[in-house]
Amino acid sequence: MQEKLVKEYEKSAKNIALDLDNYTNNNYLTHNFHPYPAKYIPQIPKEILLRLSKKDDWILDPFCGSGTTLVEAKLCGRNSIGSDINPLSCIITKVKTTKLSENQIKEIREILNQARADFISKKKYPVPEYLNIDMWFDREIKEQLAILKYHISLVKEDEVKIF
Ligand SMILES: C[S@@+](CC[C@H](N)C(=O)[O-])C[C@H]1O[C@@H](n2cnc3c(N)ncnc32)[C@H](O)[C@@H]1O
Repeated sequence: MQEKLVKEYEKSAKNIALDLDNYTNNNYLTHNFHPYPAKYIPQIPKEILLRLSKKDDWILDPFCGSGTTLVEAKLCGRNSIGSDINPLSCIITKVKTTKLSENQIKEIREILNQARADFISKKKYPVPEYLNIDMWFDREIKEQLAILKYHISLVKEDEVKIF
C-alpha cells in the first residue's frame, strides 16, 4: 500500500511544471513581511502542494524558515505545522500564518501611531544593555527600538504582541 502511494507521488512529482519566467509577483499577502536569507518564490511550494496533496491534508515543514511553504499551505486549504532551529524564523512564520481580526489590526495601528508620536517627540525609554550593543546600533536606532519595545511590552494579547 505504502509502496503504491510512493510510486503515485513520484509519478505526480515528475509532472510538476514550474513556469519560473512567469512567476513575477512574489510578494503578495504576507510573503514580504520580513526579509529572510535564501527564500524561495511562493509559486514553487504552491505548485507542489497542489499536485501532491489534497484539501485538509497535513503539511509538515520541519525547516520552515520564514514560512513560505506554510503560508501557501494555508492558502491552498491545507493544515500545516512547522518548526525551525532559528527562533526568529518561528516568530516570522507565526505572524505570517496568523489571521488577525479587524480589531487586532486596529490595535496594531494604534500602537504604531503611539510609537511614531514618541519617535517624533524623542521620548526616552530604557535602552536594554547587552554586550557589544553599540557595535550593532547607532544611538538613535537604539532609542527608537526602546520605544517600540516599550509599546510591545504593554500588549496583552499574544497574536498582537508577536506581530
Ligand atoms: C531556506 S530555509 C527553509 C525555507 C522554508 N522551507 C520556506 O518554505 O520558506 C532553511 C531553514 O532551515 C533551518 N535549519 C537548518 N538546520 C536546521 C535544523 N537542524 N533543524 C531545524 N531547522 C534547521 C534554518 O534555520 C533555515 O531557516
